[in-house]
Amino acid sequence: MKPRSKRPAIGGAGSTSADTTLPAAPARAARDIAVVVNGVERRAHVIPRMLLADLLRDEFALAGTHLGCEHGACGACTVLVDGEPTRSCLVFAVQVDGSRVDTVEGLAGEDGRLHPLQEAFRTRHALQCGFCTPGILMTLASYLAHAPAPSEREVREALSGNLCRCTGYQNIVAAALDAAAVLRSERASTAADAAATTANAPETPTKAMRGGATASASSGPA
Ligand code: FES
Ligand code: FES
Repeated sequence: MKPRSKRPAIGGAGSTSADTTLPAAPARAARDIAVVVNGVERRAHVIPRMLLADLLRDEFALAGTHLGCEHGACGACTVLVDGEPTRSCLVFAVQVDGSRVDTVEGLAGEDGRLHPLQEAFRTRHALQCGFCTPGILMTLASYLAHAPAPSEREVREALSGNLCRCTGYQNIVAAALDAAAVLRSERASTAADAAATTANAPETPTKAMRGGATASASSGPA
């Protein structure tokens, strides 16, 4: 895997006179952006050529997003932008101004409980070096939200844009199918709870009034 090129940090800070690969950007080109990252609003002052991946890793210290190929081929850098899987190595930070970005760091619940996908990956040993794993998790999280009962072939198609050099994919696919079953079960349970709450709710005044009106009408003169 080729080493990452050195890029100047936001606003050109971090560039040194020894940095000959990229000239420092003029300060006037930088601009302020606001992004909701994993539910928290974050602000930054960025140069136009800064990539979303570098914003997340270098400025927000969210290094769970990995950079492999840096040209859109491997999927390791996948995050969700407004819910859609997105190669963060192909998007400029300024392009997500005002958007919601979700990374692998936000996949677990606020109470620390792992997402069903993370649990399934752990149980199934669905990773080896783990470099591809954050991108695959984010790709699958988005996919399973739209495809609750996928077949094995459909999972493999969904993963076709994410390269893994270690696992052979077998356990990744098995973990995805396990997680899909858990998510289906959780949704069914949530729906059953909602239905029970509705059934146990006291009759509304509107409904009672409607019943009264019906009784009155039926007992009225023929
Ligand atoms: S780093 Fe490979 S697709 Fe972005
Ligand atoms: S686990 Fe190593 S690249 Fe996928």
